[in-house]
Amino acid sequence: MEQQKKRVFSGIQPTGTFTLGNYVGAVRNWGALQEEYDCIYSVVDQHAITVRQNPADLRRQTRETAALFLASGVDPSKSILFVQSHVPAHAQLSWVLGCFCPFGDLTRMHQFKEKSAKHPEDINGGLLTYPILMAADILLYGTDLVPIGKDQKQHLELARNIAQRFNGIYSETFPIPDGYIPKVGAKVMSLQEPEKKMSKSDTNANAVVRMLDEPDVIMKKFKRAVTDSDNCVRADETKPGVTNLMSIYSACTGKSFEEIEREFEGKGYGDFKTAVGESVVAVLRPVQDEYHRILADKEYLDDILKQGAEKANAAAAKMLRKVYKKVGFLSL
Ligand code: TYM
Repeated sequence: MEQQKKRVFSGIQPTGTFTLGNYVGAVRNWGALQEEYDCIYSVVDQHAITVRQNPADLRRQTRETAALFLASGVDPSKSILFVQSHVPAHAQLSWVLGCFCPFGDLTRMHQFKEKSAKHPEDINGGLLTYPILMAADILLYGTDLVPIGKDQKQHLELARNIAQRFNGIYSETFPIPDGYIPKVGAKVMSLQEPEKKMSKSDTNANAVVRMLDEPDVIMKKFKRAVTDSDNCVRADETKPGVTNLMSIYSACTGKSFEEIEREFEGKGYGDFKTAVGESVVAVLRPVQDEYHRILADKEYLDDILKQGAEKANAAAAKMLRKVYKKVGFLSL
């Protein structure tokens, strides 16, 4: 008998054009994984409203994010691609799982601390319980593997803890998911403040390379990237700017740090930054072309999302039924 493929689940918030960090940290791996795994990818719009969003922008960005998934190699004939709010079981399971998650586990999440510091005027309940919804996203599909960047490791850990607690009380229900974090590019840093991760919401345009930036804009951003004064291309904790650029170059060319150090021995940062910028343009350009082609055909895109929602709803209903039964909800 053919063994069932393992399940992969991952998602991205449609809160703006996604960044080079989102791409090399997560989405780039999604296409490759679908050959070996049974993959489900979601535009997680419910997560996005933990921070105030303009409704029209959110709607547009949801489609755009789905188009970027497709352009990045997600194939709807192999994987399920859907929008989170189209599958009510996420919110339903989230409620149940929230009852198995200690309050203290939520308040110590890095992202909660960061976002509440950034938006002190709106520290809402969703911001706190967000990791429970993320746990529901993952556990709803019996996920084995979750491709993510380093910044989501703590949230995944919480999902694992919730699953273990639930299984311990009610018998084996959820597989315990593992993270799939790439060796290079798992945390792309800001080009302006290399101690901070590159983030979609950064207001300094020069700090972030966006997936849809034009080649000349990308080149300019790399030329302006913060480095240091010793003009030596070497990876080292005391050189966060250069180390970040080396990671990006490595992620885009497949070259090791040793090869990169050798390549730029005796050369200045000018040459190095140009090479990094060109390697990024070469990686992003085909994705951009494909993105514009897909987004131009709204009907095609919406059709994929409709079919994706149907398949995801069917898969999700099975797990939700099982969980409802285990916790003792009456079914008629
Ligand atoms: P989000 O939307 O912030 O980011 C999407 C993915 O991109 C990765 N990432 C990065 N990787 C490398 N360098 C960076 N600078 C960088 N910035 C972001 C993130 O690690 C993530 O993998 N909570 C999640 C979305 C989510 C999810 C899920 C993910 C909701 N439910 C279930 C996996 C499974 C988030 O906010 O990611």
